[in-house]
Amino acid sequence: MVGQIVGSPLCILFYVLAVATVTAAAAAATYNATTADEEYWEKRAEEARSYSRAAYVSDPVATLNRFNTDVLRATTRRSLAKYKGPCMATNPIDRCWRCRDDWATDRKRLAQCVSGFGHRTVGGGAGKIYVVTNASDDEMIMPRKGTLRYGVVQDRPLWIVFARDMVVKLRQELIVNHNKTIDGRGAQVHITGAQITVQGVQQVIIHNVHIHHSVQHSGGMIRDSKRHYGLRTRSDGDGISIMSSSNIWIDHVSMWNCSDGLIDVVNGSTAITISNSHFTKHDHVMLFGASNTNPQDKYMQITVAFNHFGKGLVQRMPRCRFGFFHVVNNDYTHWLMYAIGGNQNPTIISQGNRFIAPDDVNAKEVTKREYTPYSEYKDWVWKSQGDVTMNGAFFNESGGRNERSYDHLDFIPAKHGKYVGQLTQFAGTLNCRVGIPC
Ligand SMILES: *[C@@H]1O[C@H](CO)[C@@H](O)[C@H](O)[C@H]1NC(C)=O
Ligand SMILES: *[C@@H]1O[C@H](CO)[C@@H](O)[C@H](O)[C@H]1NC(C)=O
Ligand SMILES: *[C@@H]1O[C@H](CO)[C@@H](O)[C@H](O)[C@H]1NC(C)=O
Ligand SMILES: *[C@@H]1O[C@H](CO)[C@@H](O)[C@H](O)[C@H]1NC(C)=O
Ligand SMILES: *[C@@H]1O[C@H](CO)[C@@H](O)[C@H](O)[C@H]1NC(C)=O
Ligand SMILES: *[C@@H]1O[C@H](CO)[C@@H](O)[C@H](O)[C@H]1NC(C)=O
Repeated sequence: MVGQIVGSPLCILFYVLAVATVTAAAAAATYNATTADEEYWEKRAEEARSYSRAAYVSDPVATLNRFNTDVLRATTRRSLAKYKGPCMATNPIDRCWRCRDDWATDRKRLAQCVSGFGHRTVGGGAGKIYVVTNASDDEMIMPRKGTLRYGVVQDRPLWIVFARDMVVKLRQELIVNHNKTIDGRGAQVHITGAQITVQGVQQVIIHNVHIHHSVQHSGGMIRDSKRHYGLRTRSDGDGISIMSSSNIWIDHVSMWNCSDGLIDVVNGSTAITISNSHFTKHDHVMLFGASNTNPQDKYMQITVAFNHFGKGLVQRMPRCRFGFFHVVNNDYTHWLMYAIGGNQNPTIISQGNRFIAPDDVNAKEVTKREYTPYSEYKDWVWKSQGDVTMNGAFFNESGGRNERSYDHLDFIPAKHGKYVGQLTQFAGTLNCRVGIPC
């Protein structure tokens, strides 16, 4: 009898219906993506946290000193004299690749060039080259092969390059997966329309692209990896938004006019270098730590080096909370309110920068402590060493000798700020041509 029932067509029909019902329920559960996706991203943030802990260094001063030593060594008169040819690479990051005529056939060499806190960043160095041939961004769930979105969501490492000059107008935030390099060398690539989101991942390099006019989007179903897509809530319209991520390097990028910040680094992201980039036409430039109550942010360690903070900028270059920030050899030619600021006891070591204050007599101070009385901020370690200040600019230091385990004397001085013009001469995107030094 039992066998008969099991074998009966009616029973099979019933079984099929039952399975279909279960499947539909499962689909509905997945489709209730608000819940499912909060859990998904929380899990990813949790996993990412262990990578961030591993990438965090207990002796950040050693990293700072190594950076300065490398710059000093690469910029002695003798070593500069060797570079008399058509190619001028004026800092060690550039020196590592720019003057080689094989940059286009040896693109991954770039992954050996980063220094500072992001020095272990290799991006998609272990992967194949993927060529973006299609500038469109029509499909958020099943992006078409050949598009940038298809490349960045893959699970395997990829080194992403561009077939020609193009404007990629994003329809929603572009969610970048682990182990990716976006390498715009050899083309003029503009990424606009929405933000680049680096969330819960490790190993991302963004190099030689223009990023601008990112605006807010209400969200929707978006793929973030080969195996997963889900409902995303609003994206803010940052240029690049880095959350719960580590080993990130942004180099030779030109950024301007986005709706929110140009670069936001939040949720304990660490092991990051932002270098050789050019920022213009923007109010809130860089935010490192967005919350007064996120204890993860004390793990943030970021190097900001060889950048040009240029025309039309207002404030936050950067604005910091909690972490350790080495701001070195940057050229600050424009701000309206202040250059470097923050609260929640961040450590800010400013070395070898050039600060040119605006004419406004009320905006001469480079620094700004947000919402904190002197009695509290006097202990924050904010140091200026070898900086050049012009047009009345002044850096208000804080933090005494004995208040932390290090002071001025522990730091190897950076290349002096008077060389900043040279060091940042090629900040922003480059016009590299195949077969000749860039
Ligand atoms: C999704 O699930 C949560 C809790 O499980 C519930 O509060 C919410 O209303 C559901 N949303 C939809 C669109 O069904
Ligand atoms: C930020 O970190 C908190 C825990 O500290 C976590 O709950 C949240 O999901 C994280 N957010 C993002 C966007 O990673
Ligand atoms: C680019 O991709 C879009 C869909 O995203 C497609 O409609 C279009 O035909 C593609 N263009 C080329 C040149 O392949
Ligand atoms: C990234 O690539 C490295 C090297 O191939 C690999 O060991 C690692 O597992 C990758 N990470 C992820 C999260 O896929
Ligand atoms: C930024 O772009 C918007 C259009 O998206 C424009 O209205 C605005 O004037 C621009 N701002 C600057 C400072 O260029
Ligand atoms: C600089 O900071 C000190 C405290 O460290 C404060 O007393 C002083 O007013 C500040 N100077 C200016 C010009 O803001």
